[in-house]
Amino acid sequence: MCGIFGYVGTRDEAPQLVLAGLKKLEYRGYDSWGIASRQNEQAFARLLVEKHTGKIGQAMTSLPASHAALGHTRWATHGGVTQANAHPHLDCQGRLAVIHNGIIENHTELRRELLAKGHTFASQTDTEVVCHLMEDDIRDETSTQDGCERLVQALMRVFRRLDGLSAVSVLDPQERCIVAAKNGSPLVLGYSQDGNYLASDSSALLEHTRRLTFLDDGQAALLSADGIRVYDATSGLREADTRIWDITWQEEVEGLDGFPHYMTKEIHEQPAVLRRLAAESSAQAQRLADEIQQASTVHFVGCGTASNAARCGEYLFSRIASRQANCVVGSEFGYLADFLDERSLVVGFSQSGETIDLLDSLKSAGRRGARLAALVNVEGSSLYRLVDHPILLLAGAERCVLATKSFTAKLGILLMAAYATQGRLEEGRALLQRAADEIQSFLTDGRVEQVRELADRIADAQHLYVIGRGPSYPMALEAALKIKEVSYIHAEGFAGGELKHGVIALVERGSPCIVLAPNDETFRSILSGAEEIKARGGYIIGISPCASDVWDEHIKVADVGEGASIVHAVPPQILAYELALRRGLDPDKPRNLAKSVTVK
Ligand code: AGP
Repeated sequence: MCGIFGYVGTRDEAPQLVLAGLKKLEYRGYDSWGIASRQNEQAFARLLVEKHTGKIGQAMTSLPASHAALGHTRWATHGGVTQANAHPHLDCQGRLAVIHNGIIENHTELRRELLAKGHTFASQTDTEVVCHLMEDDIRDETSTQDGCERLVQALMRVFRRLDGLSAVSVLDPQERCIVAAKNGSPLVLGYSQDGNYLASDSSALLEHTRRLTFLDDGQAALLSADGIRVYDATSGLREADTRIWDITWQEEVEGLDGFPHYMTKEIHEQPAVLRRLAAESSAQAQRLADEIQQASTVHFVGCGTASNAARCGEYLFSRIASRQANCVVGSEFGYLADFLDERSLVVGFSQSGETIDLLDSLKSAGRRGARLAALVNVEGSSLYRLVDHPILLLAGAERCVLATKSFTAKLGILLMAAYATQGRLEEGRALLQRAADEIQSFLTDGRVEQVRELADRIADAQHLYVIGRGPSYPMALEAALKIKEVSYIHAEGFAGGELKHGVIALVERGSPCIVLAPNDETFRSILSGAEEIKARGGYIIGISPCASDVWDEHIKVADVGEGASIVHAVPPQILAYELALRRGLDPDKPRNLAKSVTVK
């Protein structure tokens, strides 16, 4: 889940280039960061390293001019958030700098073996074993190959000893090159006139070059100022041909556009995103509908917010298309896929397209012959390139760790596709436009102020519950997830009917409980659930088109029929944001989280 960025070339501001690249990748992890560079003009070039705990923010690098540098922004998996555990890590001689994204599952055994050989470790990370394994390999290696070739061969030998999913990169100041290897975690290579780059994702490279290679699992690379070589890390042999993509998609515009945080900016972008989908994605929605109609079984798979969108899809296809679409969370699908075959359709849901649990599940489904599709926001991502039929969410860059516009965008495509199965695509598009209009008015007609006042009243709550029935059940899960992620309040979403089976025991006097109550067949039953909670002292916040005496607080939303879920997503997003502000928290980079989860 970390961010990796490297450059080797003719430009001597490599440390600054790397720092700028890390800032673009910081959504992948922000526990600590570090850069290693090669000190120039010295008969015996050496490494210079700086490492810091915390976010990069507006920091500048203190490293002097250099033509080669490698950097890392960390999401801690092994070893606490300390300067010693920040990457890069060095070998005993301080000769090699290693950075890593992923998990080395057999690091304990390797560490024990290296300690027995007299190596000394400076960190608690799994990563550091690579430095010492490389140190041994290079010391014992007698080949006459040139320095860079020897370095990449050493890395491939070491990489073959690592269990788990990882991307590793090494800078050796003696050799004017950077080497890397990957299996599972993403790595992208960039070719340019003034040198060559590597990064964890393409978005950090597009300002420098549009000629990219997406390294495949089990490949390694050697980057020097005048070129890039790609290898098969298993055989150690150079790959005959390497695909170079000429990227046409636009680099996403960064910047807050006057908003204080990406979270509220992206919440406010939802009406435009939904209108764009209604205008530009109906053909894609129709194609998804056709794929679903042709398949014998259909499976919607995602993680976190994407799994809540997948579950919404299950309800929308049942209600509108009378079609079963089985929803499974990405990290569990691999254990539930034995029945898949070539007549199955598996649809992956992902904003980043890099979530490792989801990628693994879809790769195993593909190996069983299933057809693969995806609703994905990042063009060129691993998921986008893995599936037979990628459908772009057109939501634009989503920089806040919390998924907001990418969530409602998924629901927008699902709504159109569900109607398209019945030949009623136009109806689906019209509903999507109505949902966009209602969200626009909600964001501009003063109802946001009501949510702010509510946040004032419940900001000190320790626990908060959200209930919904039918299609509002996954919406309750999503509302609770947003509030948990960014305000750290223990929020839980329940299926309204589950209340009496245990969870109502949690309700105390004043417990805030959000009730999602669209004007549909679930309204009466969910109101009874709300009454039961109120009877035990709960404070009832109704999000509904309909008034009711049960509400202690009524957040009124328009009735948009089957588009209700899309509209009901927004008030809890705003509440979560306002709660975070009142609790003095960073809405864009919550603790312990990262935007794309690339470790298991
Ligand atoms: C949502 O706010 C979180 N960032 C998280 O649950 C996220 O949805 C999940 O990690 C899946 O990410 P993806 O959509 O990029 O695959």
